[in-house]
Amino acid sequence: MTEKGEADSLLVTGGAGFIGSNFVRYLARVNPQVKIVVLDKMTYAANPHNLDGLSSNPIVIRGDVCDSSLVEQIIREHHINGIIHFAAESHNDNSIRDAAPFIHTNIYGTYVLLEAARSHGLRFHHVSTDEVFGDTSVEDVTRFDESSPYHPSSPYSATKAASDHLVRAWWRTYGTRVTITNSSNNYGPYQHVEKFIPRQITNILTGRRPKVYGQGKDVRDWLSVEDDCRAIWYVYCRGRLGQTYLVGADNRLSNLAVVQMILRMMNRPLDEVEFVGGRPGADRRYAIDASKIRRELGWRPFQANFAKSLEATIEWYKTHESWWIPAKQMTELRYQQEGH
Ligand SMILES: NC(=O)c1ccc[n+]([C@@H]2O[C@H](COP(=O)([O-])OP(=O)(O)OC[C@H]3O[C@@H](n4cnc5c(N)ncnc54)[C@H](O)[C@@H]3O)[C@@H](O)[C@H]2O)c1
Repeated sequence: MTEKGEADSLLVTGGAGFIGSNFVRYLARVNPQVKIVVLDKMTYAANPHNLDGLSSNPIVIRGDVCDSSLVEQIIREHHINGIIHFAAESHNDNSIRDAAPFIHTNIYGTYVLLEAARSHGLRFHHVSTDEVFGDTSVEDVTRFDESSPYHPSSPYSATKAASDHLVRAWWRTYGTRVTITNSSNNYGPYQHVEKFIPRQITNILTGRRPKVYGQGKDVRDWLSVEDDCRAIWYVYCRGRLGQTYLVGADNRLSNLAVVQMILRMMNRPLDEVEFVGGRPGADRRYAIDASKIRRELGWRPFQANFAKSLEATIEWYKTHESWWIPAKQMTELRYQQEGH
């Protein structure tokens, strides 16, 4: 049971993806009495092995969050009393190529789950991104907070923005018990090789050069996935209903700086980095002010030392080749076709 005694049967959507599977692992460790039902479509981004080896095995259902009758059936059958919604199409580059699955899953899928939460009176937590706020110039020193206006740049972030608005509308209109977290860029184990940090590490491990868009000046605010999972759980258990919490660890670094750290840590020369054409509309800088979650819920990043956590992430990819190798070739082929 949570502190509020609510979440003894939790539906975790997208629980076989990167953050979702880390969350299931985290919860199995800190709160093993919670029954977890994972609903995941098992897209290319999922890996069923992400949930291997857990002592309290979650129930894993392969299915689509857009399938309202399946969602209804799961809620009834498993006596679900809360939903934590991770499932999404999550890769910006893919959304530029084809926005349709993003619109369907990220917007319509969130609507289906909100309706289910409304009709069954369930607690609903929505996992979202800082990308809904757009970017600032690289020289800017301001940070986004919960009152920052929405200015999404890519089809991906626009669909996440739309889903955030739906969640707030369900709170305001129907009183559905919702919360939202908007987190900055996560890194850590089980992240797909298409994403920035795993791509660089696995490029080096497979004899490729690390690739940086443009001049590598764009700034990202890095957050360890475990710190994000803890933040999500704090908000689920103790966050004020109807509220949004921004999550970030003040680890702002240019993409080039991160690649250079990885090269150094992997004993490679710094000039091995290859500069490739920038993504259209790419955001320049993200920066998160996490004062609210720190103040209200006592959250803080435990993995505040980015270099140390990055080293642990490199080690994870080194020791889990069989996990990422099957996806690597196809991912690089796709990037190659697009000139990245
Ligand atoms: N990765 C980040 O840095 C980051 C930062 C902030 C917020 N987020 C948000 O966190 C959530 C999880 O991100 P991630 O990086 O783990 O993504 P991911 O792509 O690794 O995982 C997404 C999961 O959702 C599943 N899924 C996709 N469409 C589905 C559907 N229609 N029905 C059921 N399952 C479906 C996939 O199979 C996959 O397992 C997303 O909502 C994303 O917007 C991510």
